[in-house]
Amino acid sequence: MKRPPSPYPFWYRKIPEIYTNGNYSFTFGQTPSQVHIEEQIPSLETILKESNTSSAAAVLLVCDTHTEYITKKISRNRPTCVLESGETQKNWGSVERIITEAREVGLGRDGLFIGIGGGVITDLTSFAASVYMRGAGLCLVSTTLLGMTDAAVGGKTGFDLLGIKNLVGTFSPASHIYMSLEVLKTLPSREWKSGMAELIKTAVLDSAETLDLVKSKKMPFLDGALAREPGLHMKELIERAVLVKGRMVETDPRETGTERALLNLGHSFGHALESAAGLGTLSHGEAVAWGMIRACELGQALGITPPARAREITKIIAAYGYETAAPHSLLKDIRTFIKALEGDKKKKAGKLSFVVPDAERAVLVSADIIGLRLLEQIINGDLQQ
Ligand SMILES: NC(=O)c1ccc[n+]([C@@H]2O[C@H](COP(=O)([O-])OP(=O)(O)OC[C@H]3O[C@@H](n4cnc5c(N)ncnc54)[C@H](O)[C@@H]3O)[C@@H](O)[C@H]2O)c1
Repeated sequence: MKRPPSPYPFWYRKIPEIYTNGNYSFTFGQTPSQVHIEEQIPSLETILKESNTSSAAAVLLVCDTHTEYITKKISRNRPTCVLESGETQKNWGSVERIITEAREVGLGRDGLFIGIGGGVITDLTSFAASVYMRGAGLCLVSTTLLGMTDAAVGGKTGFDLLGIKNLVGTFSPASHIYMSLEVLKTLPSREWKSGMAELIKTAVLDSAETLDLVKSKKMPFLDGALAREPGLHMKELIERAVLVKGRMVETDPRETGTERALLNLGHSFGHALESAAGLGTLSHGEAVAWGMIRACELGQALGITPPARAREITKIIAAYGYETAAPHSLLKDIRTFIKALEGDKKKKAGKLSFVVPDAERAVLVSADIIGLRLLEQIINGDLQQ
């Protein structure tokens, strides 16, 4: 007898405890966190009901000028704090504004902050909620590909200070995170490209099946092409990324072990490129994609990354249209790059470490075993095949 088709893709069957009726349940530290991936924007009533917040309680919606239209679909009459958009707004001034507006609307510890936006808004709102009256309720509506696949999941909050990204922050997960695929229709192509690199990274860290999925979903980063049916193309990949990151964070919620640190694949080289090229010149994803290729070259030189795997990862990144060659066209001075690399804050016991792909996933290697000469060769493109 022919079996009826399973309603779930192959990976759901492996982890039934995480997936029920469109919701993904994780526990980050002691805190349960549910991710809802749906086509449509949730209503305020749904958010209040699911977070067990009384409809009479004070609520503050937080968004930026580009996500205000989404916020209005959630609620037109609840108090809303609208910030300017962009990384430059991820500062103490914005946190103070969120907290001031929460106080003005009488938000108490039974109230709810709802952050609606990309990683900047969700990081800021999550930080404000985590310190407001020693912790108030928090839900997020993530609206960028990078937010859905990375920033909104896992409980890291924060803002930039003294010119250093995320210098101040807390670990404080939202109880509910909503990902509405319809909002991706308005995402500019640059933001798609930024998020896609994190998706490729997740696939490298997960399995050959997920890498195949990334390959099969490849499409151009053109606003028009993506605007037609972004949800249909991306749903499986976003779900997969949420599951992979969620499981890794559950294992190592405060990055005290090595599991969560693996999510930094491509980031040491990528952050250094972002700094050396001038912050804002490249999108985060473009830098991470370039950084993943450098991580493959490093892994190969150390005998950790099999050549065939390095070739496959490089091919996928190139197919998505990222710049892959070294030195990067925007890198004017290798010394600035090395200085930025040495200043990377992802250090363990004061030592710099790199994540490099191995045969199946990736491993963390200490910079102790990597000479400066090797790094220079990689950045100069001497090891490119
Ligand atoms: N907490 C974490 O674990 C974590 C992980 C990765 C990144 N981050 C942080 O995330 C931030 C980057 O996030 P991002 O890339 O989402 O940037 P972002 O929040 O600045 O959003 C990018 C741009 O897209 C606009 N936008 C957002 N949603 C839109 C939509 N649906 N339609 C049209 N425009 C839209 C925004 O207004 C902004 O101009 C960084 O500050 C980074 O540090 C945090």
